[in-house]
Amino acid sequence: MSNIAIIGGSGLSELPGLEIINKIELDTPWGKPSAPITVTKVNGVEVLFLPRHGNPHTIPPHKVNYRANIWALHKNNISEIIAVNAVGGITREMSPCSIVIPDQLIDYTHSRADSYHEENLTEVKHIDFTNPYSESLRKKLINASNENKLDVVSKGTYAVTQGPRLETASEVKRLEKDGNDIVGMTSMPEASLARELNIDYACCALIVNWAAGKTDDVITMEIIENNLKDGLGKIQRLISAVINNESLIK
Ligand code: HPA
Repeated sequence: MSNIAIIGGSGLSELPGLEIINKIELDTPWGKPSAPITVTKVNGVEVLFLPRHGNPHTIPPHKVNYRANIWALHKNNISEIIAVNAVGGITREMSPCSIVIPDQLIDYTHSRADSYHEENLTEVKHIDFTNPYSESLRKKLINASNENKLDVVSKGTYAVTQGPRLETASEVKRLEKDGNDIVGMTSMPEASLARELNIDYACCALIVNWAAGKTDDVITMEIIENNLKDGLGKIQRLISAVINNESLIK
């Protein structure tokens, strides 16, 4: 087992073409994860896969049980999580079908269960979250993309909004002023929960539309789904390359 898990986002409810070795159904003190965890093989290495929105894709971003999902992976001895997230592009470089490995985020979500450190504490805990994504795992993703000539944007700030609606044009202007490059709904509290459990967590964000007000187009599900289809092959190649590198190191 490589101790790597992949959390699939929109458009990635399963990993096509990969051998399924096992499905792990489990409950956690925080409730049930979005789906059973799939044990699969990527380049001969066992990898766990969990679809964030369930399979089929029915759980919206604000209803995902993030605590149960991360806990379930932790209980299966995962030390690294690569999260795949569909996002909108805000700044110039962030055009649809590009992949971004963000290095920062700003959390605009509310009312989500976002910590394991809430009740029955013997002391209050504060995690360091200066760099919300694991630098070591980000480097592995960036190196693998360079080695395989897969174009990725190697940094950027992810605005995490509450959803499930998309933003207004004025909200996107504000997000840009705040310093955000991309906008999505799912990187928090996933990233901070992983940090609370000492799991290295990085995000592969696939841009599936220009954010609201960045073009004259209405953002339709058709635009999003077409860009998802175009970009997911590249995400899968990137994940496969990272896991291949990990298996060579071990
Ligand atoms: N905004 C928020 N979340 C998203 C978007 C967006 O434009 N596109 C995909 N997920």
